[in-house]
Amino acid sequence: MSNNPSPPVDVHAIRREFPALDKYTWFQNGGVSITPACIAGEHARLMRELLDRGPLHILYPDEEYERRRSTMQCLAAFFAVDPRELALMRGVSEAYQTVLRGLDWQPGDEIIISQDEEAALLLPTLHLRDRYAIRVVKLPLLSAPDQQLAALQDCLSDRTRLVALSHVTTDLGYRLPLHDLCRIARQRGALTFVDVAHSAGLFELDLPGMGCDFAGILSYKWMYAPYASGLLYARQTSQHRLAITYAGGRSEQSLDFERDAYVLRNTAERFQYGPWSWPLIHAWATAAEWLQRIGLSTIEQRTALLATRLKQQLRKLDGVSLLTPVEADRSAALVACELAGWTGESLARQLRRRWNMIVKPLPHTRQGLRISLPFFLLETEIDQLVAALRILQSEPAA
Ligand SMILES: Cc1ncc(COP(=O)(O)O)c(C=O)c1O
Repeated sequence: MSNNPSPPVDVHAIRREFPALDKYTWFQNGGVSITPACIAGEHARLMRELLDRGPLHILYPDEEYERRRSTMQCLAAFFAVDPRELALMRGVSEAYQTVLRGLDWQPGDEIIISQDEEAALLLPTLHLRDRYAIRVVKLPLLSAPDQQLAALQDCLSDRTRLVALSHVTTDLGYRLPLHDLCRIARQRGALTFVDVAHSAGLFELDLPGMGCDFAGILSYKWMYAPYASGLLYARQTSQHRLAITYAGGRSEQSLDFERDAYVLRNTAERFQYGPWSWPLIHAWATAAEWLQRIGLSTIEQRTALLATRLKQQLRKLDGVSLLTPVEADRSAALVACELAGWTGESLARQLRRRWNMIVKPLPHTRQGLRISLPFFLLETEIDQLVAALRILQSEPAA
């Protein structure tokens, strides 16, 4: 995190962009975000344009293809990558599947994933295990960075083909030291895939600098674009490692209908097949510009402030165990906790019914809450959540 103080954010002005905030207190941004008026408005304007003018790429191709080029340029700049390293996808699941299906698996090959992966990585990995008899190795999550790196060393073997990790893990909110983890994996000859669902939009991301071979990106959590679009980042020098499993009408450089011959694109676009809703993707670029205007270091510092406030209060509550690392640079905008005696579902239900707070229950390996902290939350909303948990903690579990 940058140590220089960022310009203060006018939280109340930002909140006016989110009419949905009048209806509840919003701690579930890590699921699907609420969308600000300026981004939803751009999406609506593009859909209206479709109504008024027809399908733009058919009728006004020069205009629409230029707009697509500039949208992709904008998204590429946001992630500090070359547009030729991006393929449009519907989300992280599709990006990850494109990588998995592009490799030639042999029985006994190994994939390392973390102990806290969302379905987008977990399910395709388990499915691959059952289809190709590969071995899945789970990386334990540790808050001390040197221990985390040592744990990866312990998981790697001569059979490891791929290390697939979330930058910020989905339920427990660990921010992994990906730069070093990718280096260690590379030294052992393994490819790396990083899921940036919970980091894109929260701080500056430099994917080439991180050193991963591939990344899965989505639009609809911390980037505040409407649900749903995504990207596969494929590092220029790693693209040749993947075969193309799904060639489609968006993968080609040329297609000769007479001779039945084709040439695939020589950029990451050869991995894409679509089609997609371009208004969604254009709106995503508008969201990237909106975030940049606010400033990613401003967002990062405000998120750290809110998360630290919440963690400090949770740690003082009887019966509460904090599941997310305390340090701001080992976590991001997700804070998970358990409350003794309570299931996640009953906690979330009580919070919604009695205090109109929307929070994700943790119903799987842990029972508790995953509290999402978008940068425009108020300090008082955090204090109210803690006050509500204090009341629940004094009551018999419902
Ligand atoms: C870490 C993580 N990755 C990916 C996703 C979703 O991926 P997709 O858009 O492919 O469903 C989520 C949550 O929805 C998530 O928490």
